[in-house]
Amino acid sequence: MTAVIRLADLAAQGALKGKRVFIRADLNVPQDEQGRITEDTRIRASVPAIRMALDAGAAVMVTSHLGRPTEGQWRAEDSLAPVAERLSQLLAEPYTEVPLVRDWVDGVDVKPGQVVMLENCRLNKGEKKNDETLARKMAALCDVFVHDAFGTAHRAEASTYGIAQFAPVACAGPLLSAEIDAITKALAAPRRPLVAIVAGSKVSTKLSILQSLAQKVDGLVVGGGIANTFMLAAGLRIGKSLAEPDLVGEAHAVIAAMKARGAEVPIPVDVVVAKEFKSDAAATAKPADEVADDEMILDIGPQTAALLARRLHDAGTIVWNGPVGVFEFDAFSHGTEAIARAIAGSDAFSIAGGGDTLAAIAKYGIEHDIGYITTGGGAFLEVLEGKTLPAFEILSRRAAQN
Ligand code: 3PG
Repeated sequence: MTAVIRLADLAAQGALKGKRVFIRADLNVPQDEQGRITEDTRIRASVPAIRMALDAGAAVMVTSHLGRPTEGQWRAEDSLAPVAERLSQLLAEPYTEVPLVRDWVDGVDVKPGQVVMLENCRLNKGEKKNDETLARKMAALCDVFVHDAFGTAHRAEASTYGIAQFAPVACAGPLLSAEIDAITKALAAPRRPLVAIVAGSKVSTKLSILQSLAQKVDGLVVGGGIANTFMLAAGLRIGKSLAEPDLVGEAHAVIAAMKARGAEVPIPVDVVVAKEFKSDAAATAKPADEVADDEMILDIGPQTAALLARRLHDAGTIVWNGPVGVFEFDAFSHGTEAIARAIAGSDAFSIAGGGDTLAAIAKYGIEHDIGYITTGGGAFLEVLEGKTLPAFEILSRRAAQN
C-alpha cells in the first residue's frame, strides 16, 4: 500500500490515549425481511480496529452506511440497531455495550474507553455528494479519523473522503490496510494459470472489470446474466433469460481479446432452465443449444460445472466474484456449489469477495478453504481493475502532509 498513516502505529506510539477516534467501517450487511442479519463477516472484520482504539485509551465513535437510504429520512429498516446489537455481542468484556446515537452530526457524548455507534451515515443530507459542510462537521467530532471501510473504499462520500480531508489526523484501520496488502500481493505476480470467475446479473455493471481482466487472466469464467449475454455473443439462443442484447458487441470484444492472448472465456455447454423465476419452479438440465423461447437459464448444467471444476483444479490462482446460478433456490444451486467445492478443493491460492459470494461460501461452509476472503464487493473489483481507490488517494495525501 502507498504510504499512509496506520492506526496500529498511532496506537503503539500512545497517540490515541484520551483522544476522540472516529472509525468509518463498512457494516453494510445483508438482512432478512425481519431485519435479522444473515451474514456478519463485515461486522466481525470491524472488531480489531475498534478494540485497538479502545485498548489504546481512545473514546471511540464508529459508523457505517447500511443500504442506500434516502438522505434526511429516518426509517426503522435503515437503522444500524441490529448491527450495534451484533457488535455488542462480538466485543468481548469490558466493552460489551454499544449504544446507538441517532442524531450525531452536531456532537457526540463519548468518553475514553467507551464506544458508541453513530446511526447510518447515509441518512445525513449531503453524505453521498461529499458535502463539505457535512464533512467538516464530522471531522470536528474527532481528533483522529480512521478509514477502515474497505468495502466502501471506492466511494468518495462525506464519511469516507471529506472527513479524511478535514480531520486533524486521518489514518488507515487494520482491515483497510490488510485488504489492500493481501489483494495486491496475491495479484502482483500470481501463480498461473490465473482464473477469474465474474458473475452477476449485468454485463453493463461489470464491463470495465471484464475488459481489464481480459488482458490479465488465463481463464475468464462468466456466470449469471453476464453468461447469458456471452452465450448470445456465441450465437446461442437463451429464451427469456436475463441478458443485455445491446452489449453483445462488448462481449464479443472480450472473447476476442482473450483469444488473441491464447486465453479463453468458457461458454456453457449445458444449462439448467425453468419456465418461471420461482424457488419451486421445475428445473430441467439440457444442452446449451436447446433452450426454448419460453425458458430462462437459472444455472449452469452438470457438464459445464464438471468442465469448470477441472479448470479450477488446475489453476494456480483463482479470483471469485459472483455465484454462477440462482443458488438461493436449491434446484438452481448445484452449479454454484460445484464451483465453490472445486475452489475449496483446489491447490490454487483463491481470493473471493462480494455479498452473494460470501453468502455462497457460508452456505457451503468452505470459509477455511479459501485463501483470502475480502469484505469488498465493488471495491474489490476496482482493485482488480488496477484503479487507485479514493480512500488510498486521500489517506496517502494526508500522510504526505505530515
Ligand atoms: C458494498 O456492499 O459493496 C459496499 O458496502 C458499498 O455499498 P454501495 O455500493 O451502496 O456504496
